[in-house]
Amino acid sequence: MKIITYDSIDSTNIQAISIAEKGAEHGSAVVAGTQTMGRGRLGKSWQSPPGKGLYCSIIVRPRLAISDFPRLTFVAGIAVAEVISEHYLLEAGLKWPNDIYFHNRKCGGILSESSSFAGAGDNRFAIIGVGLNVNTEKFDFPDELQDRATSLYLESGKKTDIHALFNDVRTSMLLEVARFEQEGFGQVITRWRKRDFMKGTRMAWVGIGGQRVEGISLGPDDEGLLHVLDDDGRMHEVMSGDIQLAS
Ligand code: BTN
Repeated sequence: MKIITYDSIDSTNIQAISIAEKGAEHGSAVVAGTQTMGRGRLGKSWQSPPGKGLYCSIIVRPRLAISDFPRLTFVAGIAVAEVISEHYLLEAGLKWPNDIYFHNRKCGGILSESSSFAGAGDNRFAIIGVGLNVNTEKFDFPDELQDRATSLYLESGKKTDIHALFNDVRTSMLLEVARFEQEGFGQVITRWRKRDFMKGTRMAWVGIGGQRVEGISLGPDDEGLLHVLDDDGRMHEVMSGDIQLAS
């Protein structure tokens, strides 16, 4: 098992995929002080100011059916939220599928990428990429994020050793993946729902093709699909795309 630490790298997810393709074991990870091409969900970029955030990617090789791999995204959200609860005594909210939020402001995100999409044969793995605003101060955020982003420091007043936080996130991730293998998805989605800060609130869903549905979030069902009740009373079951807070 390898833990590779970089001062600066293009993207920890890119590096993790590369070492996983060469056979890196379950639990191996890549962590960086900054990223020059940090990737977010849906083709967005992830700002990675040096020394301010946690940027890491954990390789997992769960003993699960490939069809269960997309569910790791919910597992990852819980793993990160639980570490935050323990360290900072803060209750992190989750926004579908796995953003970390406090008071309508984003504090972190998770980008899971899976070998199953590339038809990797026996070398099956998933990469769980975690980006967390840790020691970020208000002036570190660009203008467009001033009202939409927060950090663990801004929420708690406490500065943190980012490498120690990485160790705890990695440990929590591996424990939660093992629990998913042993106990199944039911306990995952039940615990996820307890942190769902958008349930019952007005939101907009924007699909990958640009389609938009406004309505009320009813939260994810037992399979993890998000149910949205639109303004005409129609129910939508959402499995991809982006959720936006109503303006
Ligand atoms: C999102 O909210 O869109 C997901 C952001 C995920 C960012 C992390 S930072 C570490 C890892 N490496 C990347 O390139 N992306 C993820």
